[in-house]
Amino acid sequence: MSKEIVVSGIRSTGYLHLGNYFGAIQNYVEMQNSYNCYFFVADYHSLTTHPDPKDLKKNVFRVVAENVASGLDPEKVALYAQSDVPEIPELYLMLNMLAYKGELEKVPTFKDKVRMQPDNVNAGLLTYPVLMAADILIHRAVKVPVGKDQEQHLEMARNFANRFNTRYGSEFFPEPQVYRANHETVKIMSLDGNGKMSKSENVNSTIYLSDDDDTIRKKIMKAKTDSGPTEPNSEMPDYIKNLFVLLQVTSTKENYESFLNAYNNCTIRFGDLKRQLAEDMAAFIRPIREKAADLQNDEQMISKILKQGAEKARESSLATIAGARKLIGINYY
Ligand code: TYM
Repeated sequence: MSKEIVVSGIRSTGYLHLGNYFGAIQNYVEMQNSYNCYFFVADYHSLTTHPDPKDLKKNVFRVVAENVASGLDPEKVALYAQSDVPEIPELYLMLNMLAYKGELEKVPTFKDKVRMQPDNVNAGLLTYPVLMAADILIHRAVKVPVGKDQEQHLEMARNFANRFNTRYGSEFFPEPQVYRANHETVKIMSLDGNGKMSKSENVNSTIYLSDDDDTIRKKIMKAKTDSGPTEPNSEMPDYIKNLFVLLQVTSTKENYESFLNAYNNCTIRFGDLKRQLAEDMAAFIRPIREKAADLQNDEQMISKILKQGAEKARESSLATIAGARKLIGINYY
């Protein structure tokens, strides 16, 4: 039986952080042995915020290096840059004809961007979910490992796939589904308790895969806590739950359970929890940071990975575009 097709991407807009790792990369690494995987750096997506041309290559290479340092094997998956696959913008154009202004304007991430950058509300921002659908549908993927923040975009990709199928009387595109490891998509919060951890906001409350041990310790020791619960088995506020999520994924089961018990019987000392978490997090990130730094210095190696990935990605993309053109009626010779 052929393996199921998986697609996911990461924008090249800054340093990767724990949200990217636990929301996406960890799943990529888990999936690479059992699925036919296409993972890419979404460099076209990053153009919505007009990055300086001299930074683009460095940013793209860093995302590749950090993925490989986290355990992604470019021999097993197609690891490529979005801009190396011209069939993606071609499918994006086709899907744009099936996407409506009204539905795009209602997307929460678009509304956020309008609020945050009112003087740069460009058409690329509005049609961001269409490009994302093209990224996924170009390989006719069925599973998409992403964090919780991308679920709405996935729903739109399913809508566009169905609309294309209905209009052109076919079952050409399957419906891509969010991949849920342990039946839950993760959301890692910022350590100050304000929203999700993100590449460009709350730099001091975001832990990056490139942070050194001392920076990690400092950020964790400053994480938001409170005076602790006064009633046994109290519900945790989100910012405390986030520290427990991070402890669970980086520390031992014993440590996690012991702090959880302390929370539930109101004897928790958040200073102790943070000290433990800081050490475990530093030990967790260290090998990724060191390997990524080595890889990034090897430009030839990264170029080779991207070239090889683009070849694999184009093979599948060309087949999809040929099929889509035929269904639409672009079939002149
Ligand atoms: P991006 O670059 O913002 O994030 C990359 C991946 O990391 C996940 N993520 C998080 N997960 C949990 N907690 C967080 N705080 C957190 N922050 C980020 C994201 O969910 C994502 O999986 N639009 C996408 C890139 C993209 C894409 C695609 C993804 C473009 N085309 C096609 C999948 C399929 C984005 O901006 O991700």
